Amino acid sequence: MSTVLNPPPTVRSFRSPTSRSPRVSMLLRSTTLSTAAALPILTKLQHDCATPLPLLRNIADNMAADMRAGLAVDGGSDLKMILSYVDCLPTGHERGLFYALDLGGTNFRVLRTQLGGRDERVIDTEFEQVSIPQDLMSGTSDELFDFIASALAKFVKKEGGKFVLPNGRSRETGFTFSFPVKQTSIDSGILIKWTKGFSVSGTPGKDIVACLNEAMGRQGLDMRVSALVNDTVATLAGARYWDDDVMVAVILGTGTNACYVESVEAIPKLPGHKSNSGKTIINTEWGAFSNGLPLTEYDRAMDAESINPGEQLYEKTISGMYLGEIVRRVLVRMAETGSLFGKHIPEKLQTPFALGTPNISSMQQDTSEDLEAVGSILYEATGVDSNLDARKMVVEVCDTIAKRGGRLAGAGIVGILQKMEEDSKGVVFGKRMVVAMDGGLYEHYPQYKRYLKNAVAELLGPELSSHVVIEHSKDGSGIGAALLAATNSIYEH
Ligand code: BGC
Repeated sequence: MSTVLNPPPTVRSFRSPTSRSPRVSMLLRSTTLSTAAALPILTKLQHDCATPLPLLRNIADNMAADMRAGLAVDGGSDLKMILSYVDCLPTGHERGLFYALDLGGTNFRVLRTQLGGRDERVIDTEFEQVSIPQDLMSGTSDELFDFIASALAKFVKKEGGKFVLPNGRSRETGFTFSFPVKQTSIDSGILIKWTKGFSVSGTPGKDIVACLNEAMGRQGLDMRVSALVNDTVATLAGARYWDDDVMVAVILGTGTNACYVESVEAIPKLPGHKSNSGKTIINTEWGAFSNGLPLTEYDRAMDAESINPGEQLYEKTISGMYLGEIVRRVLVRMAETGSLFGKHIPEKLQTPFALGTPNISSMQQDTSEDLEAVGSILYEATGVDSNLDARKMVVEVCDTIAKRGGRLAGAGIVGILQKMEEDSKGVVFGKRMVVAMDGGLYEHYPQYKRYLKNAVAELLGPELSSHVVIEHSKDGSGIGAALLAATNSIYEH
């Protein structure tokens, strides 16, 4: 394995722009002319993306402060701190047939599950995944919802086997809708804005459940939406079904977000909200966080050219939709200023989003001497020819962006825990506490995951971090939405 591929030692203090990490010095000793010209760009990038402990502490503190400000009044901070109306989490006693729809990224999922109560738990589950055609992501609301309802209708037709709907009942579904929604009840909510590249006309400002109900009506489908939930909330419910200590859920996929269990009395902006448990789940919409982020010129340019400039800055720094694009922008600069890939700059390299986050993750997994996989991924995705030195440089860029993202995500998690701990006065950190994680970025980018976990451990220290379990809850959001449909069913169970 080349030295360049090893994860760098954790940076504990601010680095000056001119000081070089040991890995960069190594690179310098063995570079060809073309990579030497690109080195100052890498050095500056590493400086601008540095996330030493004091910076992470500041991020965690700002996250906690923004959470409080968002709970105090609507619009009080970047964080919307949305009330989910989920006051009761699944207990394991749920029984019956329930559906879930999951719309949140490039794929749409339909799922059904047969629940058998405490003893039998999940008797059976089936799901289908459909990718959303690109044109529907920027089409009209009716087109998108008709597509969803028709996929659902086809799926319902295949119901049979262990899935049984008692006579006289309507089917019930949970609807996981992973965009910022102002909930008005457990089964209604208004779309605030689209994120993650969606820009469907006619939906913002509308009740999402009404849009779906109308489309289901057009398909002749008799199905009741019992719970409208964010994917973080569904993940928390899905994970809690198996583990009572789950208090926080985080999604790190195309987009990012977190939710957590909050005491009703700690929400000043909602006097009079009734909850039998005294608790409720707050959807933070942390993707909009921005306070204290170490941003580079590449982030700023990407943001300025995005469909939502100035918005979702944390999401644009740490989530899967953007990491590959930031790397691509750095490589374009290295190609233009440092001739990293020779004189010719292929058009593909200059195409926004040509390099995906799965590409940069795969490149970081290449442990071969000549970084052959890096070379072919680069060629296929961006059209560039690369020599070994250029490939090493590219891996360094990927690592720098993944490291910043993972560490900032870890600091955000600590911010949430800190806020919960301050209010509960010692209860949160005094016992086992589980953070349920899901999303393709977290699942498929090992270096990113490691950076995240290291940042949490560094910030909390060995004693406190020994209580905090950061656990992957794979696809918890599908089953979680079905469980919340059960918890909020109109029928007794
Ligand atoms: C959305 C959130 C969602 C997150 C993860 C963000 O872009 O605003 O509602 O939870 O992506 O899917």
